[in-house]
Amino acid sequence: MVELRPNHEPRTPGPPDPRTPEPRTPNLEPAGIIQVRMRIALIPGDGIGKDVTAEAVKVLTAVGDRFGRSLEFEHLPWSADYYLESQVTIPPDGYDYLRSFDAIFIGALGDPRVPDNRHARDILLGTRFELDLYVNYRPVRLLDARLCPLKDRGPADVNFVVFRENTEGLYVGIGGRFKAGTDDEVAIQEELNTYKGVHRIVRHAFEFAKGRGLTKVCMADKSNAMTDGHALWQRVFRQLAPQYPGIAATHYYIDALAMYMVLDPGQFEVIVTNNLFGDIITDLGATFQGGLGMAASGNLHPGKTSMFEPVHGSAPKFAGRNIANPIGAIGSAALMLETLGLTDEAAAIEAAILKAVRERQVTQDVGGTLGTKEAGDFIAAAVRA
Ligand code: NAD
Ligand code: IPM
Ligand code: MN
Repeated sequence: MVELRPNHEPRTPGPPDPRTPEPRTPNLEPAGIIQVRMRIALIPGDGIGKDVTAEAVKVLTAVGDRFGRSLEFEHLPWSADYYLESQVTIPPDGYDYLRSFDAIFIGALGDPRVPDNRHARDILLGTRFELDLYVNYRPVRLLDARLCPLKDRGPADVNFVVFRENTEGLYVGIGGRFKAGTDDEVAIQEELNTYKGVHRIVRHAFEFAKGRGLTKVCMADKSNAMTDGHALWQRVFRQLAPQYPGIAATHYYIDALAMYMVLDPGQFEVIVTNNLFGDIITDLGATFQGGLGMAASGNLHPGKTSMFEPVHGSAPKFAGRNIANPIGAIGSAALMLETLGLTDEAAAIEAAILKAVRERQVTQDVGGTLGTKEAGDFIAAAVRA
């Protein structure tokens, strides 16, 4: 048995990063079999995050057994409960510790007992920022026409990816409140756009399209109103587009993009946009796939430890009730394996999800009768079969 440190490079090459170390060469046994040991940090978090993470782990374990991969999970307790007990959101060495894993899986964060969302800011947004996970990769793929709320639309019409800038924009926390709680209150929250930040996400979108043989990249901003910050997006997009002659580079203002997503989603292959707009349009995109319970995501820095999570939140009203759809989380686990180079394993999960959807062995939100655990059991069994 040969043990390997995994190669984090995604199957589709991301743009080169000067800080990325040389990829490690896989150590192949004579028969060409790679034995990989992967260490995965699990942060189930709050609410249904715990329910769906358990199912993702169940399916990953099934994949590990079937393909002979050693996947080691370490549970990290960081959550609202942990914060309320200890006053610690994430320990001082928490981000360094996360960097020591091959990948990170998060369920969801958010709890009404923490109204300022402080723990989610440190754990979820903090991980994105501190690990510099600048690519928020959110595929929008419809598995079955019956799940799509758009009239007469099927899987051929809904198959695109959104690249959401993930480390700047309105999320950086620049600003503050003055005279808070009075009638004179002033609240300021600034949007940060840097050349480096915009350039690397737009370039990633083009490189992704090129690597997958896609021919359309659409950039969405609000440069008609945000004439400074989003002029930078315009400039970068115009600068990069000519470097990809086989790719049609188009632009919509974000309000129009939202309309065209609903009217004619088939025109999109790759969408790239900023942090806030990407957040909003991927909840819209989730509805095309059957709802928030279906949508998966990866928070990536090509070549470095990346983080995977369903698009949905902690849905407190469903927490612990065996109701939540685990497919978004299980699909995020598949994205994690794909990014770690385990493409056959990822494909086995995708095939099992498709089987569950087609045979309606799913939760109620997507037309089934199963509970969270039973839906996870079905997908795990399909992976093993
Ligand atoms: P939410 O995604 O938690 O839920 C909105 C609604 O979508 C739910 O009421 C439910 O009807 C449906 N839904 C979501 N996930 C589902 C699933 N797996 N199965 C079936 N239905 C599902 O969004 P919200 O209500 O706006 O936020 C709740 C909390 O989650 C807040 O604290 C919010 O900040 C947080 N949040 C966290 C993340 C994250 O951790 N990445 C993402 C979004 C929201
Ligand atoms: C998401 C969530 C987060 C975000 C919240 C919980 C801060 O909505 O991951 O989509 O806005 O990024
Ligand atoms: Mn969101």
